Amino acid sequence: MKKVIKNGTIVTATDTYQAEILVENGVISQIGMNLSTEGAEVIDANGCYVFPGGIDPHTHLEMPFGGTVTKDDFETGTIAAAFGGTTTVIDFCLSNKGEPLKDAIDTWHGKSKDKAVIDYGFHLSIGEVNDAVLNELPSVIENEGITSFKVFMAYKNVLQADDETLFKTLLAAKELGALVMVHAENGDVIDYLVKKALSEGKTEPIYHALTRPQEIEGEATERAATFAGLANSQLYVVHVTCADAVKAITEAREKGFDVWGETCPQYLVLDQSYLEKPNFEGAKYVWSPPLREKWNQDVLWNALRTGQLQTFGSDQCSFDFKGQKELGVGDFSKIPNGGPMIEERLTVLFSEGVKKGRITLNQFVDLISTRVAKLFGLYPKKGTIAVGADADIVIFDPTIERTISAETHHMAVDYSAFEGMKFTGEPVSVLSRGEFVVRDKQFVGKLGAGQFIKRAKYGENYEITKDQTATV
Ligand code: URP
Ligand code: ZN
Ligand code: ZN
Repeated sequence: MKKVIKNGTIVTATDTYQAEILVENGVISQIGMNLSTEGAEVIDANGCYVFPGGIDPHTHLEMPFGGTVTKDDFETGTIAAAFGGTTTVIDFCLSNKGEPLKDAIDTWHGKSKDKAVIDYGFHLSIGEVNDAVLNELPSVIENEGITSFKVFMAYKNVLQADDETLFKTLLAAKELGALVMVHAENGDVIDYLVKKALSEGKTEPIYHALTRPQEIEGEATERAATFAGLANSQLYVVHVTCADAVKAITEAREKGFDVWGETCPQYLVLDQSYLEKPNFEGAKYVWSPPLREKWNQDVLWNALRTGQLQTFGSDQCSFDFKGQKELGVGDFSKIPNGGPMIEERLTVLFSEGVKKGRITLNQFVDLISTRVAKLFGLYPKKGTIAVGADADIVIFDPTIERTISAETHHMAVDYSAFEGMKFTGEPVSVLSRGEFVVRDKQFVGKLGAGQFIKRAKYGENYEITKDQTATV
């Protein structure tokens, strides 16, 4: 059925204006005033912003990690995402060394099919680059529609890849049209520092942060950026947490390297002191890279404002406190790394960023949706409000004041990293390709309605230039 969204304020990455939207067959077919409502359902967005559905470039749903599996899967994770105003997630598909890449991709399709309530795509992790991998990569891009690869520079003896692998992945990505993502921390140095701490009887969660200092993130970021420049390739640094990493990205971009950076909600509002909470509660805040000293938050906000960082992901990677985080009682290195973030991504950035005057409303839309769509081959089908785009739409009330709690969130995980915190602004209704997934704050979506999206190559549908960076 046709829908007309009336009385709202449309917000894109560049414009804010009053207009109505006609949705037909899952796409936006008209934008204007006094649109005909004949045969259409009228949706009143009075007092609300109407912006493109959020695109989360960084999720780990039903992912085996740290001796267990993330609590939220493609069902609970995408339902929670939708409540938070996200209509597309790009999840990390983990490949195993020695196995065909296609097997890993098929495994991830098995996890997501019939479960996801919003659209989704995959990034593919690369642990080694040999002839078999090089032979398969063109098909991963052309046939599977997976156009971004992830290389972990940390998690020694688990996911960590060596420098040769990273460099070869960058070269292959340049040739094939893919974007290389890195988890930038020096895994070898961390491994040494962790063993040393444990041998000294330092077992509490806070030592997770103290054994992964920010210099180590800065060094790895700089190294990855250097390789990207040398390979004349494209690099995206996930979950940037600190001044040293921002500096490395900024310097690389100033040299003309094609380097992009993402940060996440947790690094903007939580800090290292959370890992010192008593009764092992600090484990709830153990993820990598770790939370930093609070002063880094100003650096991150400034980087978002000036365009030194360009996207905002959740790094959703949830583990229950009971039974999962508790695996690390007596040994912080056994605490599964990750936290629940998918649902609060937009609210945190809106409340702490737009409401507090740190970023503009248009920057907010760029960070949570448009820029992600451009970098990851989804634009212009997704990531904006425009005629011909998918009707992935959020109706967002900027005045609602809410207190975050595990009691009321929609994730399956048993705690919230933002428990008791107050934020302003909430998605009221969310549409995915023209169908309500959340309506008046109630879930009305369908399991399996989310479609796997084959993404375009890097820069194929949209010319990516670094000077698109917004500055205010
Ligand atoms: O601690 C984290 N971030 N867990 C998820 C895996 C990763 O490194 O992104
Ligand atoms: Zn990571
Ligand atoms: Zn992650």
